[in-house]
Amino acid sequence: MPQFMRSLLLLLAFTGVAYAVVGPGTVTGNTAVADPTMCKDSSGTYYVFSTAPGIEIRTSPDRTAWTLIGTVFPDGASWTDQYTGTSNGNLWAPDCTYLDGQFYLYYAASSFGSQNSAIFFAKSSTGQPGSFTNEGLVTSTSSSNNYNAIDPNNWILSLGSFWAGIKEMSLSSSTGKLSSTTVTSLAQRTADSGAIEASVIFKNGSFYYLFTSWDLCCKGVDSTYNIRVGRSTSPTGNFVDQSGVALTSGGGTLVLGTHDNIIGPGGQDLFLDNDGVIMVYHYYTASGSFLGINRLDFSTGWPVR
Ligand SMILES: *[C@@H]1O[C@H](CO)[C@@H](O)[C@H](O)[C@H]1NC(C)=O
Repeated sequence: MPQFMRSLLLLLAFTGVAYAVVGPGTVTGNTAVADPTMCKDSSGTYYVFSTAPGIEIRTSPDRTAWTLIGTVFPDGASWTDQYTGTSNGNLWAPDCTYLDGQFYLYYAASSFGSQNSAIFFAKSSTGQPGSFTNEGLVTSTSSSNNYNAIDPNNWILSLGSFWAGIKEMSLSSSTGKLSSTTVTSLAQRTADSGAIEASVIFKNGSFYYLFTSWDLCCKGVDSTYNIRVGRSTSPTGNFVDQSGVALTSGGGTLVLGTHDNIIGPGGQDLFLDNDGVIMVYHYYTASGSFLGINRLDFSTGWPVR
């Protein structure tokens, strides 16, 4: 095979050949990511940031075809090493907001099954590899906390994983750091070892919706992750599911679970685009974890894909 074709194939293997499944409001890519978050800059370019050493950055002109352009921290992120327990370890579950010409990126540093975890904040005006400034630590946890500081979602920082569930702390929109040390409980499960994480709060109409991932991530085709939701008129609590069960008592209405050849969807983020609300997430197939993109319809008051 000519050399240029081999390089092209390699490039496609790395960036993922995105394809669109034309169905009712559904677009699914096969770009290899975990815990994706999506932003769009003022020129209309889409960005997906995802779990990786240094945090991977992918861009797309059309929200369908994605190109890996590099990492947020190409020179490593030594300030996270004491939480990842290694040099240049995986940085988890980034959360991106694009506001007034700036990318605000929150991300977590931890290791599997550990409560020695931290959430950090970075900023950039271009979103390009190496352009992000380290704005430092936002909050951290240790085994003396009953929750875990992973899965940031701002400006209300909702965080947490397993242990005592999903918590919330408030952030100052001017500094991006905590504006108070008060910790509020948003959701908790006792079933399945309390497996709940990847929280994201999203407002539509008069409700705030709290999305979480239940059960187990990152086990290939044995992953059991599924996306759940509850809603409240306040962003700071009393979220209930569609049957009226409080999210703090194990409530959560299923939005997306394993179906067809899509296994363990979760690690989701929500984003309002010109054509409506978009949910991005990862799912597994036998060949790895990939970017999923669905439109969500909130017209009944509950998100339906
Ligand atoms: C609510 O969701 C619908 C999609 O179902 C979207 O078209 C609309 O813009 C959203 N409204 C707000 C205020 O976010």
